[in-house]
Amino acid sequence: MQKLEQIYEGKAKKVFKTDDPELLIVDYKDDATAFNGLKKGTILGKGVINNQMSNRLMAKMEKAGIPTHFVRELSQRETLVKRVAIVPLEVIVRNISAGSFAKRYGVEEGIVFDQPTIEFSYKNDALGDPLLNTYHALALKLATAEEIETIKNYAFAVNEVLKAFWAECGVTLVDFKLEFGKVADGSIVLADEISPDTCRLWDAKTHEKLDKDRFRRDLGGVEDAYAEIMKRLLDHDAQ
Ligand code: C5P
Repeated sequence: MQKLEQIYEGKAKKVFKTDDPELLIVDYKDDATAFNGLKKGTILGKGVINNQMSNRLMAKMEKAGIPTHFVRELSQRETLVKRVAIVPLEVIVRNISAGSFAKRYGVEEGIVFDQPTIEFSYKNDALGDPLLNTYHALALKLATAEEIETIKNYAFAVNEVLKAFWAECGVTLVDFKLEFGKVADGSIVLADEISPDTCRLWDAKTHEKLDKDRFRRDLGGVEDAYAEIMKRLLDHDAQ
């Protein structure tokens, strides 16, 4: 597999072409941003952790019957993925109130919901990723009704697998963001990453935050939190 020219550089990843038009290489960076790029920093070692964690979690999704873009890990920071056309929706599933949900509705963090919620935002940095519902997504032709239904079903299925896995690691899955894409044959697959950048993960006993909120909220111990959550995953998988 030959790594060819870079086609995209995002906030946390670079993407390269390969000699196969249906495959891309993702290269994870240590750069961290928050609040739509207003806060910038570096989390040392984050690229390695996010790459390896996301790949292991994607493999668990595949095992559970949820198709993903993951093909093969190439190095500590690089992964081979299927080329997809990203559906421009950020799909957020929540089990517990936190972050923008708590702020928007004026409730405290930590309220455990009877059932998970799902929300979409329009993936558009210039507009600040505005929230939208399925009618808006259809009006904007971001996806078809059938694709949105598939995305919802996959997102809730990811939640079940992920929640159960993290519980076995002594970690509570609070919420997370997913992105989906369309592969060459038009089918929907889970894309992007599943990592402490995109999930809220709390220690099940102490409720200590083991995710990017430590960076967003200047809580300190950012690198230690990323290392700890990765260790929990590796210890679990070694059993
Ligand atoms: O900020 P908010 O409460 O809406 O975030 C919900 C979840 O989605 C969090 O786990 C957060 O890490 C993730 N998220 C993300 N990328 C964004 C917005 C939210 O990964 N652009």
